[in-house]
Amino acid sequence: MGDTGPAIDALQQRGEAYPPPAGMATYAVVGDPAVYDRAAADPVGWWEDQARRLQWDTPWHTALDESDAPFYRWFTGGTLNVAANCLDRHLAERGDRIAFHWEGEPGDRLHITYRELHERVCRFANALRTLGVGRGGRVAIYMGMIPELPVAMLACARLGAAHTVVFGGFSSEALRDRMEDFGATVLVTQDHSFRAGKHVHLKDNADVALAGAPGVRHCVVARRSGDPVEWTEGRDAWFHDLEQASSPDCPAEPMDAEQMLFALYTSGTTGKPKGIVHTSGGYLTGASATHRMVFDLRDDDVYWCAADIGWVTGHSYIVYGPLANGATSVMYEGAPAFPSHSRMWEIAERYRVSILYTAPTAIRSYMKWGDSYPKVHDLSAIRVLGSVGEPINPEAWEWYRDLIGSGTAPVVDTWWQTETGSMMISPLPAISTLKPGSASRPLPGISARVVGEDGLDVPRGEGGYLVIDRPWPSMLRTLLGDDDRYVATYWSRFPGLYLAGDGCRVDEDGDYWLLGRIDDVMNVSGHRLSTIEVESALVDHHAVAEAAVVGRADELTGQAIAAFVTLRDGVVGDEALIAELRNHVATLIGPIAKPASIVLTADLPKTRSGKIMRRLLRDVSEQRHLGDVTTLANEEVVEEIAAMATVNPHQED
Ligand code: PRX
Repeated sequence: MGDTGPAIDALQQRGEAYPPPAGMATYAVVGDPAVYDRAAADPVGWWEDQARRLQWDTPWHTALDESDAPFYRWFTGGTLNVAANCLDRHLAERGDRIAFHWEGEPGDRLHITYRELHERVCRFANALRTLGVGRGGRVAIYMGMIPELPVAMLACARLGAAHTVVFGGFSSEALRDRMEDFGATVLVTQDHSFRAGKHVHLKDNADVALAGAPGVRHCVVARRSGDPVEWTEGRDAWFHDLEQASSPDCPAEPMDAEQMLFALYTSGTTGKPKGIVHTSGGYLTGASATHRMVFDLRDDDVYWCAADIGWVTGHSYIVYGPLANGATSVMYEGAPAFPSHSRMWEIAERYRVSILYTAPTAIRSYMKWGDSYPKVHDLSAIRVLGSVGEPINPEAWEWYRDLIGSGTAPVVDTWWQTETGSMMISPLPAISTLKPGSASRPLPGISARVVGEDGLDVPRGEGGYLVIDRPWPSMLRTLLGDDDRYVATYWSRFPGLYLAGDGCRVDEDGDYWLLGRIDDVMNVSGHRLSTIEVESALVDHHAVAEAAVVGRADELTGQAIAAFVTLRDGVVGDEALIAELRNHVATLIGPIAKPASIVLTADLPKTRSGKIMRRLLRDVSEQRHLGDVTTLANEEVVEEIAAMATVNPHQED
């Protein structure tokens, strides 16, 4: 936690409470509140019941193996194939059902049935095999939201190869580092992706990354824009050529329940991103069970998770959870405001979307654009709304329910993390009384507590550290290649308790209120970025001597990145340099990491031991009273920075 102390901003509860829609419980997936007690009485048994909804080739002999804690193992002895669970087992009864209504940003549409998806996955799995990928193989995927992305993921799963999906908004450097760390031998990408009417040059970025990643021997390229791209003979191959040349016959082989399904990189408090490892049996159990329960999934639902598959939300709730449940989903390629602010609502109306899952940042943008956009669309099919990624402020919550949910749809505010694999704290829509701003309570089978510095429960109503005190099937198993860091990051602060890294408060009714991160991790538009990563990118620029970065509260994006930079002697700082530094960060990490503002300063506030006082910089950024600065080695610098930050707090473009 460094010198910052818990950054706990208590969201104020406004007092309104919304009971579930009358009668919903009668037909709901979970309609009886007794479920909480039943699961708490035998949590492992409860999860076994959920796991039995999947198709296993061999049953497990041990549901939970705690012998090597915190390296927990679930469903050991059991074997299954994740792709077979997502595809093959639906073919007999619902092969012609739509898996994805896919809509491209320019307006092109595809309606892909389970049978078609199955065939494409089988073909592409065979194609990957010809590139040397098999059980235990490693494939990196760097794509936009096109159907080939889930095809590639499921093809890996079919073979027992692990994938790492790198968000298509990341830079070539970020891609290279992840491919290297992951040990990928194949990269799957596309020529360009479409975003807000522009081309994102994924293949060009991939070429740069591949030049620094000699272990990656093949690059498979899906054609999207059709515009020319550079080509390296012998290394590059077209996705469609490989697919067409491959047999659609690819029997799914049973995999160990603990076989790695994927790793997904997420920011930590030190520079290097962490490869969060998820396995097959436990992960799929968690993702599918929560998808079904939390959204109260019915056979005739049309479900839309408007996230990007490059983040964990898309893994669990666009690909694995919904497909394991045989759901019909909408998958949209592009930006929410393209070509107009109506795009989301047009899509929701067109497919009669009944369940919508998105992020508070997006909801606040729609609010800002105005009520008129959703109002002219028929959103009457919507019956459950979901939110994820950051705390949702009550205003946005109520707008979402009123404007998008016709004033009646329950809003499920789902708290979870890349590490948890699936939702952990969330309402169940047919039985929970909702309070805007609260994620309600831990789901059945999940046990979470709020503790103080001493590891003991804090009294109700008081803020503290959120911990999970019992293992759960979809938990991360380790950090790729770094067991020690896994233990140190999550299990050392309070032995035996998983440290989520979030502050939390439980109210007198037992409802959980998430209070934001307690470490130096920022949450920008629902995406976690570490301050250190952005600082390293700034210092990487030849003009920069030192940099400090904090997340400051931002109405739209939750937090915005505020940077404070000391230049090298002799360098003249001006607006052009600031613009250059911002672009430098975008190049090294990706546009999402671009600081919203950069203040050039002669010095940074430091403790006498030389630690940068980020708390002070946060106060400055949020224009708060600074309090005591006498512990600083260089008191005078603070006023100087404060003055400059007030003059020019925003440089957003
Ligand atoms: O701080 C919490 C916040 O997002 C973090 C996890 O980020 P990531 O691993 O990128 O996964 C995001 C999607 C699951 C958490 O530690 N967070 C996520 N959902 C919520 C939330 N904070 C408050 N309320 C939520 N519903």
